[in-house]
Amino acid sequence: DWTMAAYKDQAIAAIREQVGDGKVICGLSGGVDSSVAAMLIHEAVGDQLTCILVDHGLMRKNEAAEVVAMFREHYNIPLVHVDASDTFIGALEGEADPEKKRKTIGRLFIDVFEDEAKKVGGADFLAQGTLYPDVIESVSFTGGPSVTIKSHHNVGGLPERMNMQLVEPLRELFKDEVRELGKELGLPDSFIGRHPFPGPGLAIRLPGGVTREKIRILQEADAIYLDEIRKSGLYDAIWQAFAVLLPVQTVGVMGDGRTYEYVCALRAVTSVDGMTADFYPFDMEFLGSAATRIINEVRGINRVVYDVTSKPPGTIEWE
Ligand code: XMP
Repeated sequence: DWTMAAYKDQAIAAIREQVGDGKVICGLSGGVDSSVAAMLIHEAVGDQLTCILVDHGLMRKNEAAEVVAMFREHYNIPLVHVDASDTFIGALEGEADPEKKRKTIGRLFIDVFEDEAKKVGGADFLAQGTLYPDVIESVSFTGGPSVTIKSHHNVGGLPERMNMQLVEPLRELFKDEVRELGKELGLPDSFIGRHPFPGPGLAIRLPGGVTREKIRILQEADAIYLDEIRKSGLYDAIWQAFAVLLPVQTVGVMGDGRTYEYVCALRAVTSVDGMTADFYPFDMEFLGSAATRIINEVRGINRVVYDVTSKPPGTIEWE
């Protein structure tokens, strides 16, 4: 009968057969899918795999460093960490349109990835963490096999440009199965259970133009919010939770002084697949203490609001 352990062995054999003694590169996003794909391929072909983390500077606080530490130190998987934050943030500085932000990020991502792939001497294969739902979706869009995936961190278009074949070891799996496979490969539960995080990162949680200062404020507020959620034991009951930094300043009072600082919106939803979602019904005590901590600890925020919109009619993200 079917077990994930057996699936793992079979997938490793298939990767060895496909790759032979070729070189593989894999783009790591910090998410579960690309990490599980990379772990599996590393088990199959070892140092024939090089991972590339294109760091756009729009990840959560400490997230890039945590992923790098896990791969390099814990698993000993060769990983190139590219700090491309100047390039990305520079290009996003004056851009307020959400779709243009996504397009800019997608385009720069491909440019940076391609450059880095050349620097490591190129490769014969490009690995992607494409899941079964991605395959179905893109077949129904294109009528052909899946090559390009909607989200930017799958590097669509690159295989042809760089003359590489795709390795997609998760093509037959659903998300819950990928998590199970991740466990089988020894990834820690804390990593496997992570909330989904969008490829364009914090750029779409900062309505308006992106600046380093706004990213700093948002990262700090978001980290405190998630810390409160974890401490309350609510993390696993929530599909996604995050802070949004509104491009609105309001008047407040601190000590004997007047403040004029940004508003932070908190979002948390439950969902099965991200297609529909309900706002999470925190109790007021939780919200009050999260808000107090954010306002006290984050320079630049003096007001916090909670988003009680479900999807539809809202979307999960604000952009
Ligand atoms: P929405 O906001 O459309 O989000 O309700 C549904 C799910 O998709 C994620 N999301 C994205 N993921 N690139 C991604 O990789 C994107 O551009 C993007 N936009 C939204 C969102 O975080 C949620 O999980």
